[in-house]
Amino acid sequence: MTFAALTGWGKCLPPAILSNEDLSTFLDTNDEWIVQRTGMKERRVSHVPGLMLSTVAAKRALACAGVKAEELDLILYGSCSFDEHVPNTASGLQVAIGAKNAAAMDVNTACTSFLYGMSTATAFIKSGAAKKVLVIGVEHISKFMDWQNRNVSVLFGDGAAAAVFEASDQEEGVIAERLHCFADARQSLRVRGKGASYANVGILYGDTRWDFDGQEIFKKAVTGMGEGSVEVLKKAGVTIDDVGVIVPHQANLRIIEAVVKRAGATMDKVHLTVAKYGNMSAATAPVALVEALEEGKVKPGSLVLIPAFGAGLTMSAHLIRWGGRTTPKEVSDAELPPCERSALDMVRELMALKEPHARSEAALMGARFVEAG
Ligand SMILES: CC(C)(COP(=O)(O)OP(=O)(O)OC[C@H]1O[C@@H](n2cnc3c(N)ncnc32)[C@H](O)[C@@H]1OP(=O)(O)O)[C@@H](O)C(=O)NCCC(=O)NCCS
Repeated sequence: MTFAALTGWGKCLPPAILSNEDLSTFLDTNDEWIVQRTGMKERRVSHVPGLMLSTVAAKRALACAGVKAEELDLILYGSCSFDEHVPNTASGLQVAIGAKNAAAMDVNTACTSFLYGMSTATAFIKSGAAKKVLVIGVEHISKFMDWQNRNVSVLFGDGAAAAVFEASDQEEGVIAERLHCFADARQSLRVRGKGASYANVGILYGDTRWDFDGQEIFKKAVTGMGEGSVEVLKKAGVTIDDVGVIVPHQANLRIIEAVVKRAGATMDKVHLTVAKYGNMSAATAPVALVEALEEGKVKPGSLVLIPAFGAGLTMSAHLIRWGGRTTPKEVSDAELPPCERSALDMVRELMALKEPHARSEAALMGARFVEAG
C-alpha cells in the first residue's frame, strides 16, 4: 500500500510586525481587549507579494526534503488572497522554483486551504497519479483587509508555509481525515469586493467590506474542530493520549481551548502561535506545524492532530503519523528582500490608497451576488 509521507517543511514570515498598540493608533481598540478576547499580541504585514513569501517557504521545504523542484509532479497552492486569478498563482510558483515537470493548481477553502491541499496531495499520491507533491499555505491578506473595521482587522496577518509529500511504503502521513463544510452558515464570513460580483460596478479592487459574524463562526469552529478531532481519532483507532502534539488553526485562543477540551486533551499538548502571528488564514496551521518541528515537539513516529476551519464555513481535521525524520536534510539559503518600512506605515499607506474611493461603499454593499436555493 502506498502512503504520502510529509518529508519537507518550510515557513516564511514577513519581518514587519503590527502590534496591538499599533492598531490602537487608528482603531477604537486596545491591547487588553485584543489579548483577552483573542490571545493575539501581534501579527505580520508583508512588504512582498504572496508568491514571493511562498517561493521562499517552498525552497526551504524542498531543501528540507532533499527534493529537487524538477522532481515535483504537482503543486497545490492554498490561499484566499491570490496575487492574481488568471493565470493561477501555482503556475507562478512553478516558474519561481523551476518545477518544470509539475502540474499546478490553486486551492481556495480559505483558512483550511493548505489542509484541503494536504488531503488532495495524499489522494493523488495514494492513487499513483503523483509521487512528489508540494503544498503551500499562504496569505497576503493585509492587501484585502478592511482596516477601519476593528471587528476583523485586529484578527489577521500575512505569512506562508510549504510542505513536500512523497510516496512511501511506510504507514506515515495522513492516516485519518475529516473534511466538511457548514455551507448554511457561509454568509457569516463574506469579503465584499473580491470576485466577479463586484467587477465593473465602480469599486476599487482591494477596497473591501467584511460581513463577519464572529460569534456564529466561533460556535461552528468549536463544534466542527472538536467533533472532527474526535472522529479522526476514532477512525484511526487511537485515543487523544496517543497524540504527541496538537497543531490547530489559530483564529482565537478561546476557540483552541474549547476545541482541546472537547477532544479530551490539555493545553500543554498544543503548539500555539496565535499570540505572535494572529490568524494567517491558509498559512496558520502549516506555519504552526513547521514551528512545532523546529522546537522539537514532533517526535519520530508520533501522531500530530490538526483541526481547522475557515470561511465557507469549511472545516477539516487530520491525524498525521510522523515518519522517522524530524530534522531537515538540507537547509536553503532563500531569503526575502529586506523590508524598509514599518508594518504600521504599510497599513497607513493601504488605508490612504482606499480613502479617495470611499464612495465605492454603496457599490460594495449593493453589488448583487447570486445565492443558490
Ligand atoms: C471576533 C471575536 C474575537 C469577537 O469576540 P466576542 O467575544 O465574540 O466579542 P463580540 O463580537 O461579542 O463583541 C463584544 C464587544 O466588543 C466590541 N469589539 C469588537 N471588536 C473589538 C476590538 N477590536 N476592540 C475593542 N472592542 C471590540 C464589539 O463591538 C462589542 O461591543 P458591544 O458589546 O458594545 O456591542 C470572536 O467572536 C471570534 O474569535 N470569532 C471567530 C474568529 C473568526 O471568525 N475568524 C475568522 C475565520 S477563521
